Amino acid sequence: MNAAITARAHTNIALVKYWGKADTDLIIPQTGSLSLTLDQFYTDTTVVFDSSLAADEVSVNGDRLTAQQATKVHNFLDLVRQQASRTSFARVRSVNHVPTAAGLASSASAFAALAGAASRAAGLTLDRTALSRLARRGSGSATRSIFGGFVEWHAGHDDLSSYGVPLQEDVDWPIAVIALVLDPKRKKVSSRQGMQNSVSTSPFYPAWKQIVADDLAAIKPAILARDFTTVGETLESNAMRMHALTLSAWPPYSYFNGDTLAAMQTVKSLRDSGVACYYTLDAGPNLKIFCQAADVTPIQERLAQQFGQANVIVAHPGPGIQFLD
Ligand code: DP6
Repeated sequence: MNAAITARAHTNIALVKYWGKADTDLIIPQTGSLSLTLDQFYTDTTVVFDSSLAADEVSVNGDRLTAQQATKVHNFLDLVRQQASRTSFARVRSVNHVPTAAGLASSASAFAALAGAASRAAGLTLDRTALSRLARRGSGSATRSIFGGFVEWHAGHDDLSSYGVPLQEDVDWPIAVIALVLDPKRKKVSSRQGMQNSVSTSPFYPAWKQIVADDLAAIKPAILARDFTTVGETLESNAMRMHALTLSAWPPYSYFNGDTLAAMQTVKSLRDSGVACYYTLDAGPNLKIFCQAADVTPIQERLAQQFGQANVIVAHPGPGIQFLD
C-alpha cells in the first residue's frame, strides 16, 4: 500500500461566470471566467492507492457512494492513473466542511481537493498550473479552486492552454461575501446540463460571449484598484445575464425561486438606503452578497430578520489548495 495523501481545497464564487463548454470532454470553456476563493466552505479529501482493492471505494461525509454515484470520481481517477502509469484502485474519503446543512458543498472544492490528493498519492508531482488543468477535467469551476483569492480561468483552446491564473492571491482588501441559503436541496438542473442547454438553444449565447469579454476587461483593473462599485455592478449584471440564458433556452427554466426574487429586492433596497452590496448566484436559488467588511453587520441583520439567522453565513477571501499531514 502507498501513502495516503490529504488535500484541502476551498470553494469559489464566480464574479464573471463560466457558463458553457467549447469541448465537453476536455471541459474547455467557451469563455474565460473570474472568481473569488472563499474561506468558509472547503473539502478535505484523502486518497490512497491500494493494489488489494477490486474497485475504487469512495465515501463522502462518511457515506459510501455506489458505483453509479461515484462515476465522475472513478473517471477522474482513471485520468490520474493514466498520467501516473498506474493500475491499482484507490480509496477516497471526502469530507465537505460547510457551516450548516446548507447545500453549499461544491464540485469546485471537491475536484480541486481530489486532483491534489489523487495526483500526489499516485506519485505525480504537479505544479499548480498542472493541478489546475487536472482539476478542470473533473469540474470546470474546480480549475479556479487550486488558487486563493481572485482567480481568472484562461479559457484556452486545448488541454494545455486552459487553466487558472491567480489575479491576486493574498487579498488584503476588506471585503466579505455573505451566503444566503434559500433552499439547501440539490438543484434540479445540474450546471453541466444547464450550460449545455444554453449553448445549444439560447439565441442570446453569442451576446454572452461578448458580455464576458467586456466584464473581464472591466473587473480585473477594478479589483486591483479596489473600485468596489465597478466590481459590484459588474458581478451583479454578469450573474443576471447568465441567468437570462436559462430563461431564453428551450425548454426554458430558471434556478430562481420566490425567495430569490425577494432577496434580490432586499439587496437593492439596502443599496438604495446607502449600504453598498451586490448579489450573484450560480446554478441554484441561493444568493451570495458581495460587500465591504464594514457593512457586514447591517446586511447580516437585515437578511437574518427576513430569512432566519441560520441561513446567513459570512465568508471572506480564502486560500488555495493545501496538503495536510
Ligand atoms: C454557475 O463547474 O459545476 O457555478 O464543468 O460541468 O462541472 P461542470 O460545471 P460547474 O459549473 C459552474 C457554473 C457556475 C459558474 C461558475 O462557477 O463559473
